[in-house]
Amino acid sequence: MGGHLSFPRATLPKERIVIVTGANTGIGYETAKWIAMMGATVILACRSEERAKEAMTRMNAEFEAEKDRKTEGVVDYSELSIEFMKLDCASLQSVMDFIKKFKESGRQLHVLVCNAGIALHKQAYTAEGYELMFQVNYLSQYLLAAHLLPIMKTSGEDCRIVLVSSEAHRLSEFNLDRIQGKQFNEQSFGRMLFYGNSKLFQIMQMYSMNRRLLNSNVTVVSLHPGIVETEVTRNFKDMTSMSLLLSVSKFFGKAKNPFEGAETSINAAVNSDLKGVRDVYYVDCKPSNVNSLARNTQSQESLWAYTQDCLKKGAFLPDDIVKCLEGE
Ligand SMILES: NC(=O)c1ccc[n+]([C@@H]2O[C@H](COP(=O)([O-])OP(=O)(O)OC[C@H]3O[C@@H](n4cnc5c(N)ncnc54)[C@H](OP(=O)(O)O)[C@@H]3O)[C@@H](O)[C@H]2O)c1
Repeated sequence: MGGHLSFPRATLPKERIVIVTGANTGIGYETAKWIAMMGATVILACRSEERAKEAMTRMNAEFEAEKDRKTEGVVDYSELSIEFMKLDCASLQSVMDFIKKFKESGRQLHVLVCNAGIALHKQAYTAEGYELMFQVNYLSQYLLAAHLLPIMKTSGEDCRIVLVSSEAHRLSEFNLDRIQGKQFNEQSFGRMLFYGNSKLFQIMQMYSMNRRLLNSNVTVVSLHPGIVETEVTRNFKDMTSMSLLLSVSKFFGKAKNPFEGAETSINAAVNSDLKGVRDVYYVDCKPSNVNSLARNTQSQESLWAYTQDCLKKGAFLPDDIVKCLEGE
């Protein structure tokens, strides 16, 4: 691991339930695999059953290899305690279906890692009418957290919501009038700006939620995983400047592999020293500063109200969930 910070290799009980969204590849794959290899039960919340099942097979094969190597912190189960549950963050209805199924399982929930994301997508709107990156990266995972919060609040001490944001949150604006970008056309739509906004909103969500969760067993943190070589580039292969930036990062050895990219998420999810720690944005497993836009309490509250309006419109946020969200 070299001299850099990583996560402690501590054993986790199988009864500790962790959901990782977008766990079939990239940072989410490594996050889910390592948390499962440390003993917890991990639910892979993914949109493609086929990709998730392939990922689970690969995780178990890699687990066998780690056991053979006697890697520190890896449990000796015959198979990882991992499961697939369908979740498409481009559909609020799919999020509701996931929530219903999870609730029916009667399980506790200790950690929710909101990792699924798309970057620099061209202008596109979901069936529910929201800008695609806004919905996939932020709105859907806010909805997921909102509905799972009552379960987390009754799941015992030290429950955590981990929001995988990005340094791209610095390339953002806070302007509710154009939050959906409908004023723009394909040419004028700022793909980096709208990606950055979705990542800014996750950090703002962290502050707003924590304000309401003070004195509870649930904490919310956010993080930047680093520049990581994953499939994240799939939506901006046509953008030569971005592709060039990534090539330069690789050339100078700045790009991380997916395991290195997952270390900050894993640490935020499992490090027992971080119990009760909230309102932190981690980079390389260390607290880091955030853009001042993200810290503006008035903007955080405006976004909170706007988000709830979006969700109440489709009846996705019933009164009991709002009450729980508001800390009542
Ligand atoms: N890589 C980087 O340099 C970097 C830097 C900063 C932040 N991040 C953040 O890190 C997170 C993980 O990214 P990554 O680099 O690992 O990217 P990735 O390799 O593209 O993985 C993204 C994951 O999100 C899933 N996903 C995408 N759209 C979804 C949807 N509609 N519903 C459910 N799942 C969906 C993908 O599933 P499918 O395979 O089915 O598409 C995949 O599992 C993202 O939030 C990203 O913004 C990445």
